[in-house]
Amino acid sequence: MLRFTFWCLFTVCVFATQVSFHSSHVEWQPAALGDNDLGDWSLDTSPHPNSTDHLVFETVHSLLQRWPNTRMRNGHAIVPGIIPKGTLLYHGTSSNVFPTMHEWFATDPEHSYMFCGFSVEAECRLFTIATTRPLKVVYFDGSSAAKLQDGALDTQDLLLWGEPRGGTAKEDMQRIEDICKWGGKYKVDAFVRMQMDFEVMLCDPTSGVRVISSSNLVSPLTQWPQKILLQVSAFEVMNAAAWHNRLPGETRVHLNLAGLVTFYDTQLAPSLVPIRAGQERWDHRVQGISSEDLSATRTRLEEVLTRPEGLSSGIDWASLIQVIVDRYAQRLDSVQYLLSAPTANPDDVLDLANKTQTELRVMLTPYLLLSAAPTHPPDETELDWATPVFRLCATTHTYSMDSELPFMTASEKLVLQAVRGTTREICRVVTKMWVAGVHAGIDPLLNTNDHFDVIKVAHLRNAWLEDLNHLMTWLDWSEWVKCNPACDREVHRGVLSLFRQAN
Ligand SMILES: *[C@@H]1O[C@H](CO)[C@@H](O)[C@H](O)[C@H]1NC(C)=O
Ligand SMILES: *[C@@H]1O[C@H](CO)[C@@H](O)[C@H](O)[C@H]1NC(C)=O
Repeated sequence: MLRFTFWCLFTVCVFATQVSFHSSHVEWQPAALGDNDLGDWSLDTSPHPNSTDHLVFETVHSLLQRWPNTRMRNGHAIVPGIIPKGTLLYHGTSSNVFPTMHEWFATDPEHSYMFCGFSVEAECRLFTIATTRPLKVVYFDGSSAAKLQDGALDTQDLLLWGEPRGGTAKEDMQRIEDICKWGGKYKVDAFVRMQMDFEVMLCDPTSGVRVISSSNLVSPLTQWPQKILLQVSAFEVMNAAAWHNRLPGETRVHLNLAGLVTFYDTQLAPSLVPIRAGQERWDHRVQGISSEDLSATRTRLEEVLTRPEGLSSGIDWASLIQVIVDRYAQRLDSVQYLLSAPTANPDDVLDLANKTQTELRVMLTPYLLLSAAPTHPPDETELDWATPVFRLCATTHTYSMDSELPFMTASEKLVLQAVRGTTREICRVVTKMWVAGVHAGIDPLLNTNDHFDVIKVAHLRNAWLEDLNHLMTWLDWSEWVKCNPACDREVHRGVLSLFRQAN
């Protein structure tokens, strides 16, 4: 229990700087754009309430990163991958005998160290191993190694046993035994999960790995007094885990997105749609799935694990999604900041509205066709003039992919749909907001109104904020959940001095 409390406390304070990318833009004629899968182009049509496009999008964007999977701990995705040759893994124990059966290994020694020398007599043994060939792995997203009762273990348990089991160490012993037995049929070497940090359930420590060292270390009990032992160890595990908080995440595992299976796939698991209806993502569970859907998911997973290598389109989905997040995450955040800023007088209202309109224009720049302009004076009920901007924005990133469809796996088609649905909604809201600014006469280039009404602009700010909040709640990107300002170095220094005082 204490472990979990600490984990939540500290993870909230970790902040990673954002990597910036530039997406390339090819100029297309809007008339040539395919829009068959995107429904209508009305700026007022929001996503279907049962759509999971945004959930699949954010799932892919969060894989193997600790912060988003700490926030949303009930994982829904199962993804095959490899751990490359030469990767080090660690196992802390009180025994000097190297395990010969399925066993837990950590990616960071700070994590393994928690499991060594828990009594004064016991030794603190740290085994370090290196992979001698690529290990075939299966990753469960979410906090899939956290011994929690409310859904973090659902995906594994349903696949294995058809129902969730408890979250104690005893059940986890059974889980590793059964999951390795199941994985053996598909030559899976290991399963990757996450709790405070990432861990690897290695099914056969005598195959594909070599022991590099077996060290009898200074025991945690010798180093730290009993009363702060857990805090020191837990802090350092979380500190190490925080290196994987955000992109690039846990880089020692390489996933194959062409094999992603997720319970957010509404074609694969339609029975979960009514169960999720009206729930926050935090509460989503896989429990309650119909037996037909569960067996279809198992079949899909078996298909993925037995498929010959290289049967996919070759599209880099992770990068595509990153490009989209980079283009919008910080800008949407900054628009929200402008719209939430207090105003003391009409000039403030106008100034902030002008800046907002400029930022909206900046976001849409690659799509602002010269031909897209309203009538003068504008008819505010007439939005069709902006449709080409919306369409270009919404289809640019995926336009070329229709021709790749015959080479795509079912997982890739799901991700493509998720990217389409998500960009469509971002572009719909941003275009709609920009159009409202144009109609209000505050666009710096499409100046349709020489005289603007401050009351009207104040209302516009409210309407903008409502639209934007709606979009950002729907997207719910973990990038936006961070300490502001971030923890400074003094926090770490403070923790270190606490450790010394307790000695
Ligand atoms: C969403 O799914 C639920 C459950 O299947 C269904 O009852 C509801 O009608 C769906 N919503 C819409 C708008 O179709
Ligand atoms: C806002 O923009 C309008 C139109 O471009 C301009 O006339 C006005 O001076 C600006 N107001 C402020 C306070 O920046």
